[in-house]
Amino acid sequence: MQIALAPMEGLVDEILRDVLTRVGGIDWCVTEFIRVCDRLLAPSTFEKLAPELAQGARTRAGTPMRVQLLGSDPVCLGDNAAFACALGAPVIDLNFGCPAKTVNKSRGGAVLLKEPELLHAIVREVRRSVPTEIPVTAKMRLGFDSPDGALDCARALAEGGAEQIVVHARTKAEGYKPPAHWEWVARVQEAVRVPVFANGEVWTLDDWRRCREVSGVEDIMLGRGLVSRPDLARQIAAARAGEAVREMTWEELQPMLQEFWRQARRKLAPRYAPGRLKQWLGMLTRSYPEAVALFAEVRRENDCERIDAWLGVPDLRREWAEAG
Ligand SMILES: Cc1cc2nc3c(=O)[nH]c(=O)nc-3n(C[C@H](O)[C@H](O)[C@H](O)COP(=O)(O)O)c2cc1C
Repeated sequence: MQIALAPMEGLVDEILRDVLTRVGGIDWCVTEFIRVCDRLLAPSTFEKLAPELAQGARTRAGTPMRVQLLGSDPVCLGDNAAFACALGAPVIDLNFGCPAKTVNKSRGGAVLLKEPELLHAIVREVRRSVPTEIPVTAKMRLGFDSPDGALDCARALAEGGAEQIVVHARTKAEGYKPPAHWEWVARVQEAVRVPVFANGEVWTLDDWRRCREVSGVEDIMLGRGLVSRPDLARQIAAARAGEAVREMTWEELQPMLQEFWRQARRKLAPRYAPGRLKQWLGMLTRSYPEAVALFAEVRRENDCERIDAWLGVPDLRREWAEAG
């Protein structure tokens, strides 16, 4: 059984991947989608969205990271996949689930679920373009407007060469509206031989139990649930091993918040760092009542130094000076 941290553009970046994978329980993570249009991307694009490539494609905790590509041109995707592998990508994941209008308009993401032949052609070409030892995997929604074509899509992906398929159990039309239709994950798993991962609406250990029961699959990908409850993968891993499950307290979360903020301050422009912190804090309010108070305090704050003080990391400048 594997537990994966979901790719989340604009949310799960290098910083959050680093902080979350240190908690434990996550077997692998994925970059935000890297959009491929009509040319070979510059190395700087990969450096920006997948900086872990420079450290063996692992987060600091040692969790392997996959590179996700999004596009519709099989040859161009194949060329970029091969380039990503040359830069160190150990697995190429293909995105067939993005619901964004701008992306779908230019024939990327979930809109491709209307064209199973194209899904097949993309995976086949990417498979052909990357070294044989590099797995190609895919992430799909159930369909665009309806799940009627889900099994055809999954078969197209598997027959094209996808070694694993993550199913975000909703159509594009359903957006992120609950529920996720885990029963469809079971249908997809019946239709293909490759491992299928269940994804969508797993926020708690109980959700995971129900998802496993309904979907019948062991492998799972966690998105917003893990961001708002950073020890969710660790809880699931403990439960599945028959060990006692202990929930992370708000106090235990503090060093993670501080570390997140330290990195945000170092890596992002001062006008962006507070927004990223508020984004994560906003999600933590779902699981931690204490986050509600902190969120209310920093909500209107855009001054990085005042946020340093709030989070108890007032000596950042000295830390940086000492680090040279
Ligand atoms: C802010 C945000 C960004 C996302 N970006 C990506 C992405 O880059 N690639 C992808 O395959 N899915 C992306 N997703 C979808 C998630 O990976 C996941 O499938 C979805 O959130 C459902 O899982 P969850 O209910 O556990 O969050 C994104 C979702 C969110 C909320």
